[in-house]
Amino acid sequence: MSANNHHQRYAHIVGWGKYVPSNILTNDELAKRVDTSDVWIRERTGIRERRIATKETTASMALYAAQDALEVADVSPNEIDLVIVATSTPEYIFPATASIVQDQLGAQSAGAFDLSAACSGFVYGLSVGASMIRAGTYNNVLVIGSETFSRIINWKDRTTCILFGDGAGAVLLRGSDEFGGVLSSVLGSDGSGGELLEVPAGGSRNPASIETVMANLHTVRMNGREVYRFATRVMVDATKQALQKANIPLSELDMLVPHQANARIIDYAAKALNLPPEKVIKNLDRYGNTSAASIPLALVEAIEEKRVNPGDHLVFVGFGGGLSWGACALEWTEPTIKRATTPQRAAQSRLRYQWAHVKSFGHRVLRRVDAGVSHTLDRIEGSKNGDE
Ligand SMILES: CC(C)(COP(=O)(O)OP(=O)(O)OC[C@H]1O[C@@H](n2cnc3c(N)ncnc32)[C@H](O)[C@@H]1OP(=O)(O)O)[C@@H](O)C(=O)NCCC(=O)NCCS
Repeated sequence: MSANNHHQRYAHIVGWGKYVPSNILTNDELAKRVDTSDVWIRERTGIRERRIATKETTASMALYAAQDALEVADVSPNEIDLVIVATSTPEYIFPATASIVQDQLGAQSAGAFDLSAACSGFVYGLSVGASMIRAGTYNNVLVIGSETFSRIINWKDRTTCILFGDGAGAVLLRGSDEFGGVLSSVLGSDGSGGELLEVPAGGSRNPASIETVMANLHTVRMNGREVYRFATRVMVDATKQALQKANIPLSELDMLVPHQANARIIDYAAKALNLPPEKVIKNLDRYGNTSAASIPLALVEAIEEKRVNPGDHLVFVGFGGGLSWGACALEWTEPTIKRATTPQRAAQSRLRYQWAHVKSFGHRVLRRVDAGVSHTLDRIEGSKNGDE
């Protein structure tokens, strides 16, 4: 929509999907590796078990979650305008994980980028995607949170290794003239607290070296107590601010979907906001903290449990490394009971993704052949010129 076109655009969530590895790591199993116990972990965090990737990577989990979201929305990959992958555990420093997902989906018309805002990443991504839709720049935006924190955890550090798990969640945002969807967002950052939660090496400041590997600087370090204090404060404030911006009174909030870091942090915020447990989504007992994936993962489970209905007011609120935080207020508009996929449609989708795979392979081969032929032609040309 151009600026002089007066009708307002809205960004609705029309598709959703999730993926978690099937491999489960329980507290008891963790207690065999580090000096901890199931009781300590449950009482201090609310976590019972988490999923740990085996063959999966951040891109593969993102892809599965995105495929589900497209299935629910009944949207084909070539309709997607933009793929955003919020992650702190990307496949590589570059290329972006989002570009890998774009290719594997066969989303030929889409731009793609990764978004680094640690555990706030999904809310940041949703805010960016919704803003682009509201500005009229794009119409279909995939926002994915995907993480394999198990690959950057120090499995000997009991203060962090008990907390995190792997997984992915995705939503498809779509533009519409109908009121609803993502109505507001609040994004915050306090970089002075960066060292409270960090992976110290592997970037331009401390590039990978034998020394950084020996000192275990490529894994998560955290000051748990300080992060806890920060989290309880910003969750409550950001939720209130997002509601206020969307003109939704706190009394009309139907569902809070918070970042799943610690049950005590969530309970504290719920109490401060005067929300009963049925209005707060908690699923970290089974997944732990999946960072940027935790909010979409919790949302999808809430939908599957039929806890989200059209007309509901929702707030997504995240916080984490940066330090960073963010909240979005939404009015849910989409029916959550979708018609079952027919075997024919499922087969069609499978074929589409297999074809995207074949095409991607074909492009790679062609690029190599093209480079080889061009190189040979240049040499022939060069030697001919030399002869003259
Ligand atoms: C990490 C966290 C669970 C620790 O809980 P806590 O109640 O603050 O515990 P403390 O750090 O005060 O440690 C209490 C004691 O338990 C010990 N302890 C720490 N981890 C332990 C574990 N896994 N098992 C058993 N004991 C443990 C500590 O060594 C400490 O012992 P001490 O009193 O002898 O020094 C909590 O601080 C937290 O959740 N913080 C927020 C972290 C977070 O959410 N990060 C991600 C943000 S995106």
